[in-house]
Amino acid sequence: MKQLKIFITGASSGIGLTTALHLILRGHFVVGSSRHPERLTKEALKEKVLRDHTRFRLDKEGRAIPLRIELPREFQNLDPLLESLKFVALDPSREGSAEEAAREFFSLSEGEIDVLFLNAGMGIFGPVEETGVELVREQFEANVFQHLKVLKQFLPVMREKRKGKVIFTSSLGGLISIPFESHYSATKAALERLAEGLRMELKPFSVQVAVVEPGDINTAFNLTTAQALKRIAPEAKSDDLSRLLNSFPLPESSPYYLRARNSWNYIFRSLLLKPSPSVVARLMVKLAEKERIAFRYRAGDPFQTIPVWIGTKLLPQRVIQWAVEKLYELDKK
Ligand SMILES: NC(=O)c1ccc[n+]([C@@H]2O[C@H](COP(=O)([O-])OP(=O)(O)OC[C@H]3O[C@@H](n4cnc5c(N)ncnc54)[C@H](OP(=O)(O)O)[C@@H]3O)[C@@H](O)[C@H]2O)c1
Repeated sequence: MKQLKIFITGASSGIGLTTALHLILRGHFVVGSSRHPERLTKEALKEKVLRDHTRFRLDKEGRAIPLRIELPREFQNLDPLLESLKFVALDPSREGSAEEAAREFFSLSEGEIDVLFLNAGMGIFGPVEETGVELVREQFEANVFQHLKVLKQFLPVMREKRKGKVIFTSSLGGLISIPFESHYSATKAALERLAEGLRMELKPFSVQVAVVEPGDINTAFNLTTAQALKRIAPEAKSDDLSRLLNSFPLPESSPYYLRARNSWNYIFRSLLLKPSPSVVARLMVKLAEKERIAFRYRAGDPFQTIPVWIGTKLLPQRVIQWAVEKLYELDKK
């Protein structure tokens, strides 16, 4: 297999980091981005990989108890893998950051790019009526506009060389709105329509575009949500479930309080029990290496991905909504 030159945004943890390591294992040249590459010591990265591959159980007091670490066999020797992963700074809220990141990438990759994974992202939480527009703007900046800024730096090279793939990390939440995370779902739906159009635009230039829709994956994603809402101290841990549950953002006076609280509890409890990011990473590796790729892929717990997929194809909206409200226990007393 020819060595591919790959750029992954949001590679400092979760799906991006694990994908980067699986790609390095296959012999590819990988550069990842982070807003704070200076914080990414080998020890810090290792801790994240181990956390993202830990199986948890929840106890009655609402704590997450680590059961075991299920590292892929190939990850037994993490140090050399982590040493091979290079990082560049990318903070799309900083003027000129995407240009600098791309320049640095191309100087490391000798001007080549084979696969661009647009993976960085975060979520916010709150009822549409009560969520400040500034926060919604941050949500769209992180999940949509930053990808556009990065794309603009890479597409001219891919188009001129008439090769390459752009793969977006979307979400099943882009197909069905997550209760009280509708802004997040809206960003992923927007991303999917953009990607569809982009695929048609780039077809004559042999640049392929795809979206990957993960189901729930056991990463630090929910911690970032609590941090974006400024509800939790920066040093909080993503598996400190009691603390995360207590960071619920709505006041009791909110007319949405009870249903939103139920949704928050479900989202924060269930994510810790979901598959590790390696489930998504293995698919990402296949897409990077395959000659021709389709447009839409799913990865995660099949008990989640398959019903969502079939449901959105076959069921009327009222049935889907009923099922989502039940799953997220919105009316639990
Ligand atoms: N976990 C899930 O259940 C799940 C399901 C479906 C889709 N996804 C999607 O998968 C992608 C990766 O998420 P993850 O689960 O791996 O979460 P994660 O562990 O929190 O990783 C998120 C990555 O995105 C970067 N990031 C976070 N906020 C950002 C911002 N405001 N601006 C720029 N970069 C930011 C982070 O990098 P720095 O903080 O170092 O900059 C980090 O590397 C996201 O697009 C997410 O929407 C996740």
